[in-house]
Amino acid sequence: MSVDRERLAATEVATVPTEQIDGVTELPNVLREGLRRERTAPPCAMIIFGASGDLTSRKLVPALYDLALARLLASEFAVVGCARRPFSDEVFRAHLRQDAEQFARTRPLRPEVWDPFAEGISYVRGDPADPDTYRRLREHLDWLDRTRGTCGNRLFYLATPPNLFPEIIAQLGAAGLNRPPTPESWVRIVIEKPFGHDLASARELNRQAQAVFAEPQIYRIDHYLGKETVQNILAFRFSNRLWEPVWNEQHIDHVQITVAESIGVEDRGGYYEQAGALRDMLQNHMLQLLTMVAMEPPVTFEAEAVRDEKLKVLRALRPIPPAALAANSVTTQVVRGQYGPGWVAGQAVRGYREEEGVSPTSTTETYVALKVYLDNWRWAKTPFYLRHGKRLPKRATEIAVQFKRPPHLPFGGVAAAGLEPNRLVLRVQPDEGITLQFGAKVPGPTMQLRSVNMDFLYGSSFLTPSPDAYERLLLDCMLGDRTLFMRADEVEQAWAFVTPILEAWARETPRFPNYAAGTWGPAAAEQLIRRDGRQWHRP
Ligand code: BG6
Repeated sequence: MSVDRERLAATEVATVPTEQIDGVTELPNVLREGLRRERTAPPCAMIIFGASGDLTSRKLVPALYDLALARLLASEFAVVGCARRPFSDEVFRAHLRQDAEQFARTRPLRPEVWDPFAEGISYVRGDPADPDTYRRLREHLDWLDRTRGTCGNRLFYLATPPNLFPEIIAQLGAAGLNRPPTPESWVRIVIEKPFGHDLASARELNRQAQAVFAEPQIYRIDHYLGKETVQNILAFRFSNRLWEPVWNEQHIDHVQITVAESIGVEDRGGYYEQAGALRDMLQNHMLQLLTMVAMEPPVTFEAEAVRDEKLKVLRALRPIPPAALAANSVTTQVVRGQYGPGWVAGQAVRGYREEEGVSPTSTTETYVALKVYLDNWRWAKTPFYLRHGKRLPKRATEIAVQFKRPPHLPFGGVAAAGLEPNRLVLRVQPDEGITLQFGAKVPGPTMQLRSVNMDFLYGSSFLTPSPDAYERLLLDCMLGDRTLFMRADEVEQAWAFVTPILEAWARETPRFPNYAAGTWGPAAAEQLIRRDGRQWHRP
């Protein structure tokens, strides 16, 4: 991941002093320029299937524009949209521009950047099931190699509904588009989530993808891994000596991972009905966060070393016993919920069953909370509590690491009454940063103690704004860095943990809705953690 950065840092940091501006640490210009050059993508064509959808115009193309703005794309870079709609190149570009104006990180768009970038955008209309689409695509790509200089490098991006993935993969193989056209060029494929809907389907999709592409050509994307704050979990843990000695069951009482959203399902009711909170967020984003918090230090930051360590965490997940899966069990470890009507940020909002595209008797969960253990030396006795919900009171993704109390407090009960155990909160979004809570003496003539916070905030510590997750991940695909992408075995292992929960749920009809929009979820989720003498951390 950071091999380039490390190499440059080793050679240049020693001789170039870090610039300090009002206490804010900035990379010196010479180093920043060097890093930029090392991270510039080689010429290539990115072919997007599902090019007329929201993901393309709201996420992918705005991220590409920001990469162009940062001069991280080659001037030869080309985007080829592929979908059924009858767009001309001009209409496709205009449609993308309209959304980029709204969704690019850096706005307003700068014509001197957008115009040359847009010249490289073209559109191939076609049905993904029709072999002729791929014949024309191939001719178009060859033409781009000759006229724009894309050098035979091809990045295929599957941004279609998942039921089309197998067809497109097979057709790419049949058309020979899975093979680089020259010995120097490369072909890669990015597969969006959801990667399967249970263990069997994920295995099948892996089999189909690996029948056509070699594993190193396959990039399974999880946009959480592209977030700066998620990568910072590794930086925080493995660049500081301080944490490692206490990062284990001896010192950590428990860990909470919260991904709260205030939005509902918006216009994605049709998709969400098939997915639900467990598949949509927990199987992928949240288990990935868990791996980052719990993994052993990798030997290097190369893709396989990091992914090997993440896989070990997923393999250590203790399966939830059948008795703890039942909703009415006193030992339940998993709670599901669905929002009813309520209030969010002062606005009346409808319940999930009244959302567009949702059945009025839907049993799809919009909330999940669970307690898991990792069966390994470091964590065997430390519970990890994970929860995610839509229509909660606020948007907040954070990891709260709760330390144990000191073995003995010499100050007396009254002095320490206001003291809570140490807590470290890694805030992924918003208010990106880290807070450490510790005990301090209240000023005055007596020894009175209280918990106080020490804060790190990205916004005030670094002058440079953070790139969007897709910027980072698209650039990594072009550079051939797989560190922040999921390997086949990782995805399957995550499904192996989640599938028995889905199966148990399918056997019971839940009583939904069971939480009002704008609240922190069902009462059973409170009981889940209170039973252990703990409580949810309120972001
Ligand atoms: C997506 C889910 O993967 O992540 C959405 O499908 C969810 O349901 C989104 O809202 C959250 O992403 P972020 O980056 O806004 O936390």
